[in-house]
Amino acid sequence: MCGIVGYVGKQKAAPLILEGLKRLEYRGYDSAGVCVAQGGQLEVVKKAGRVEILAKEVAVHRLAGTTGIGHTRWATHGGVTDANAHPHLSSDGKFALIHNGVIENYAQMKTFLARRGFTFQSETDTEVLCNLIAYHYGKEPAAPGQSRFLESVRKSLRHVEGTYGIAVLCLDAPGEIVAARLASPLILGVGDGEFILASDASALVSHTQNVVYLKDGELAHVTPRGFALSTLDDVDVSPVVDRITWSAADADRGKFPHFMLKEIFEQPAALENAMRGRFSADGSTANFGGLNITADELARVERFMFCACGTAWHACLVTEHLIERFARVPVEVDYASEFRYRNSPLDPHTLFFVISQSGETIDTLAALREAKRKGHRVLAINNAVGSSIAREADGGIYQHVGPEIGVASTKAFTSQLLLGAMIALYVARLRDLSFNDGVEYVNALKSAPDLVRQVLKQAPRIKAIAKRYAQSRDMLFLGRLALFPLALEGALKLKEISYIHAEGYPAAEMKHGPIALISEHCPTVFFAPKGELFNKLVSSMQEIKARKGPIIAIVTEGADLPKGLANEVITLPACHEAVLPIVASIPVQLLSYYIAVERGCDVDKPRNLAKSVTVE
Ligand code: G6P
Repeated sequence: MCGIVGYVGKQKAAPLILEGLKRLEYRGYDSAGVCVAQGGQLEVVKKAGRVEILAKEVAVHRLAGTTGIGHTRWATHGGVTDANAHPHLSSDGKFALIHNGVIENYAQMKTFLARRGFTFQSETDTEVLCNLIAYHYGKEPAAPGQSRFLESVRKSLRHVEGTYGIAVLCLDAPGEIVAARLASPLILGVGDGEFILASDASALVSHTQNVVYLKDGELAHVTPRGFALSTLDDVDVSPVVDRITWSAADADRGKFPHFMLKEIFEQPAALENAMRGRFSADGSTANFGGLNITADELARVERFMFCACGTAWHACLVTEHLIERFARVPVEVDYASEFRYRNSPLDPHTLFFVISQSGETIDTLAALREAKRKGHRVLAINNAVGSSIAREADGGIYQHVGPEIGVASTKAFTSQLLLGAMIALYVARLRDLSFNDGVEYVNALKSAPDLVRQVLKQAPRIKAIAKRYAQSRDMLFLGRLALFPLALEGALKLKEISYIHAEGYPAAEMKHGPIALISEHCPTVFFAPKGELFNKLVSSMQEIKARKGPIIAIVTEGADLPKGLANEVITLPACHEAVLPIVASIPVQLLSYYIAVERGCDVDKPRNLAKSVTVE
């Protein structure tokens, strides 16, 4: 949510910042802006709309300075206007600030500052903080040896309630940036004589792969000579420089028209990367290096609790099904946003998991903290290395699928399903699952990338189906057991990127409400795999057919539907129960994608959404 870039070095800052903002645009695309220190001024250019609009505006200004900050906004306080775009200047013109997060007590601060003569051009909380920094700067000089700029930011932040990732410029220190974070991600890229700040690595990886992940409550003071980290309480921090393992090419669209399509087609490789080195030598179970829990401890777990948001929450639901089915341990799943306030009683033998692609989703992070506060060990499934969740969890499993840029999650989701299935296997083998069943399960998981490749070959057919239903106003998605969460996910994908109203339901629940929606104008996507419930699924389909509802059936090989029952049939290869949700994800991803393209929607940047939701 909101993208931040800052640059200190020898090159012109503006082009570098614009390039970074383009890469961060998936974090927010309501407005964008840049500020460069040059010629004794803080030059700000900002516009409502996309980064390309800003780039045109920047081209007519001569921004030559070598220190600057830039921002893409996902609006919280104040509408989508030029004035509300970041960077914001303090009313004395001395400071420029970009901010990701929410300052909850900004109204009191604004009253305090207004009484002291500060004025405001926007409705944002950010402009208030910028003026608070100016207020502290003007109030008292710093002690000898201290930076007055840094100290005024530090003092101001001590008054903030809320969350922030910020970068600040000061007219009196034109080659410097002060940055800080609390619950909003911030990374400092350490290059050769240059430093790049960003809210995520994709904005800086083309310049350097050496990064410092700032921690909550830390400030970075960056100058052309180097950088120093300290805390809000003014304690120096020794920086740890990490190395990003992926390169700029991984965050490029390549030959694909959209990141989402690229990421859909990357799934076979992503699954291979997520499972690599994670099976036991005897081929009967999974192995995880970073779980930080012994097999004995895991065998004693009496209950699992999984929390997440959005698509990752659907991955939790599939994992619940597989753990209960194969390991016979009860599992509870909750929305992270609900769990954090629900004061749910947690039994001491409950093992707590969170799942998050970005590792920065504020509700998931808060759920993790709440579980830890209650004395629980918390493990995480997470894609973004070095994220807040990765750092705060007691152990976990990295997804290793590389950067996911499309706002609608695809490869991150299927790799979460894979890792959930592997956890189910691991726990099941510590309990009742036999060696032979374990080997069969492992072989099935190993075959997942090839099965996904087979389904991807059906993309042209799915595209043709999508064209026929692209003008629908409503759609239903139905499934049962492990494919019920897939029905939820299919509906979420469709509404996220095509703005068609869609609902996911367990198939048998259809008659308790959604059936009222059925008509020739409301198609149903129906998961009907071969298995013990197949005949019941066929009965539910008959009920839809009787009401003239078009049916897009997603079946597995060997599942023979009565002739003429479904209007469209997509056939998946027959596969193991633990792999089926992964394979079944592909047609609904492709269907949503092609429908959205047919409707002319901006697939990678759907309206009002952001990839990583770092505000409540
Ligand atoms: C946002 C994204 C979703 C994602 C959810 C959770 O809503 O648009 O695609 O599933 O956040 O994100 P996380 O990074 O925690 O998996």
